[in-house]
Amino acid sequence: MNDMMSPAATAERTSPAAYSPGLEGVIAAESAICQVDEGAAGLRYRGYAIGDLAEHSSFEEVAFLLLYGHLPSRGELDTFSTQLSRESGLPDGVRRFIDSLPPNAHLMDVLRTGISWLGLVDSDADDGSRDANLRKAVRLLAQIPSLIADSYRTMTGDKPAPSPNGGFAEHLLHLVGTAARQEATDAMVQALNASLILYAEHELNASTFAARVTASTMTDLHGAITAAVAALKGPLHGGANEAVAAMLAEIGRPERAEAWLREALAHKRRVMGFGHRVLRQGDARSDIIRRHAERLSRLCGDHTWYDIASTLERIMLEEKGLRPNLDFYTAVAYRLMGIPQALSTPLFVCSRITGWCAHVIEQQDHNRLIRPRAIYRGPTPRPYEPLDRRG
Ligand code: COA
Repeated sequence: MNDMMSPAATAERTSPAAYSPGLEGVIAAESAICQVDEGAAGLRYRGYAIGDLAEHSSFEEVAFLLLYGHLPSRGELDTFSTQLSRESGLPDGVRRFIDSLPPNAHLMDVLRTGISWLGLVDSDADDGSRDANLRKAVRLLAQIPSLIADSYRTMTGDKPAPSPNGGFAEHLLHLVGTAARQEATDAMVQALNASLILYAEHELNASTFAARVTASTMTDLHGAITAAVAALKGPLHGGANEAVAAMLAEIGRPERAEAWLREALAHKRRVMGFGHRVLRQGDARSDIIRRHAERLSRLCGDHTWYDIASTLERIMLEEKGLRPNLDFYTAVAYRLMGIPQALSTPLFVCSRITGWCAHVIEQQDHNRLIRPRAIYRGPTPRPYEPLDRRG
């Protein structure tokens, strides 16, 4: 179709006026999955306000909602939860891959390769139908926590932990967190459950867009998810939560926070966990996870990270007019749960896999190849020089 366009139409579509660096403000899809709502709700998944979901739902309910389009009945939820437990084992080939990991591998790279491996041996590998994609999505949701926990434990030399019988968040906390007294553990499970819900979906963020672009060639779901994982790793996107954890560790004490930040701003450093391409007036998800982080600080009797974070938040608003995004207080909450810094972004994958898969399926339901244009700014036309005449 593009090849047939008139020169005038081509010029119009590639004119500098239509160009938006970073695709800022560009509408690139129609979607029924997530609405970035400028009103009080902040964000809705399939019509439901994020605050209601984070307060009242389990992550499994939200995962089901994103994948199947409605909140599950009790029977549907039970079946879904059983499926997740049943599918959480890893195939032998993937176990051998984990055993061969170099000790310092980045876990996002492990996930990228591990998910690709899972695609090779998936029982629906040759089936790209909608039903098969839903089955693959549920399997990935179940397998990714095992892939992360087993890889981390293999690289650090710990033995794989046996799984408890609780829900998804409890299972995950058991795999990657540290033990605490019961009241704090309950609060940690609630905080991790909320964090998984908040991370599950966010419209056309960079990794979801990468997944949709890949899926638009009608390639397989694991391929699209592999592309998404690679995009999520970057510090301007999902890698920010790991970068925030590193920043909090670098600051170390609340008394140092103000001086550290003023120095960073003086050197024009980007402060991780602040700002957002779309949410210029603040991120409603940040308030929700901040409340969990504050509660965990109280229950754990450790206010260090929360106090550092509050100081950074105050000064960033005063000096730059920037507010925290979801990654900022998530890093505080994860620290209090004893989640190692290296697992921060992989945990994001445990959750966002639902949004990615929902988008891949939606893209392929109404597919049109995603193929934008670029404005050419290279050398003007020049004659070809044979090799022996080049200087
Ligand atoms: N720290 C310091 N300054 C920041 C900043 C941050 N985290 N985020 C934005 N700014 C500043 C920029 O330097 C720029 O200032 P200038 O106009 O004086 O040059 C201005 O705010 C606009 O930033 P811009 O880079 O155009 O915004 P963007 O839409 O391209 O960037 C992010 C959005 C998310 C990439 C950016 O805010 C960022 O890098 N944040 C930190 C990483 C992060 O937390 N990512 C997770 C996002 S959910």
